[in-house]
Amino acid sequence: MLVSATEMLKKARAGKYAVGQFNINNLEWTKAILLTAQECNSPVILGVSEGAGKYMTGFETVAAMVKAMDESLGITVPVALHLDHGSYDGCYKCIKAGFTSIMFDGSHFPIEENVAKTTELVNVAHQLGLSIEAEVGAIGGEEDGVVGKGECADPNECKQIADLGVDFLAAGIGNIHGVYPDNWEGLSFETLEAVNNAVGEMPLVLHGGTGIPDDMITKAISLGVAKINVNTECQLVFADATRGYIEAGKDKQGKGFDPRKLLAPGFEAIKAKVKEKMELFGSVDKA
Ligand code: 13P
Repeated sequence: MLVSATEMLKKARAGKYAVGQFNINNLEWTKAILLTAQECNSPVILGVSEGAGKYMTGFETVAAMVKAMDESLGITVPVALHLDHGSYDGCYKCIKAGFTSIMFDGSHFPIEENVAKTTELVNVAHQLGLSIEAEVGAIGGEEDGVVGKGECADPNECKQIADLGVDFLAAGIGNIHGVYPDNWEGLSFETLEAVNNAVGEMPLVLHGGTGIPDDMITKAISLGVAKINVNTECQLVFADATRGYIEAGKDKQGKGFDPRKLLAPGFEAIKAKVKEKMELFGSVDKA
């Protein structure tokens, strides 16, 4: 059931658990995540970066695929189709294509410009029933060409953006996209606590979910995080499982080269990873 992410994240914040945003890249990813959400009776958010949207030949293709798959698989748990790290133009394209949620990443603009553009997009999104995420304090690392320095958000700026009526807010707290380097100092809970105190009941978003230790995830949820984004970890398990299949020579046995067989171990690996995260985030049986 395609819905905006507003209600599922309000419920998560109040119930002290988090909903996973899992990024999609193709049909296998989408099917694996939807089926796992249904099996776990968990709400879920499908994240689409601008790069992944382009790869899948555009946001219209993505929205059509997700809507049709949601119906044909008989998915009854709440599913939000969400633009990840959207540009201003990207947000409008996804609104037009039929996404149910957008993220406007204005974190690289001066705060005045971030405020002006976010205000406009909040109004448009809400008129059409979409949810909207905004960002303050860049998430570090690189994801599909979006590069951030990994600074901690200023709680006053978070309050300023939260007050514009966004539905959930991503605040940089030392998190980065991709695998964390060995010398990573961990999440700044001091920043998270200050942001949480500044924004009241606003569900907070933790990007860069890959590789954050379980105890830090649990603590972040206790401090207001209600949405956690995971992308790289699914890519890594997919690649490992596919490599294992080929290195074992299974593509050379019988019709093992059939893409439906070749991609099956990676598909199962994504399912197992998504289930593991849903259990950790506490969203199982919360649909
Ligand atoms: P990871 O790739 O580090 O899991 O981050 C995902 C993310 O934050 C998507 O916006």
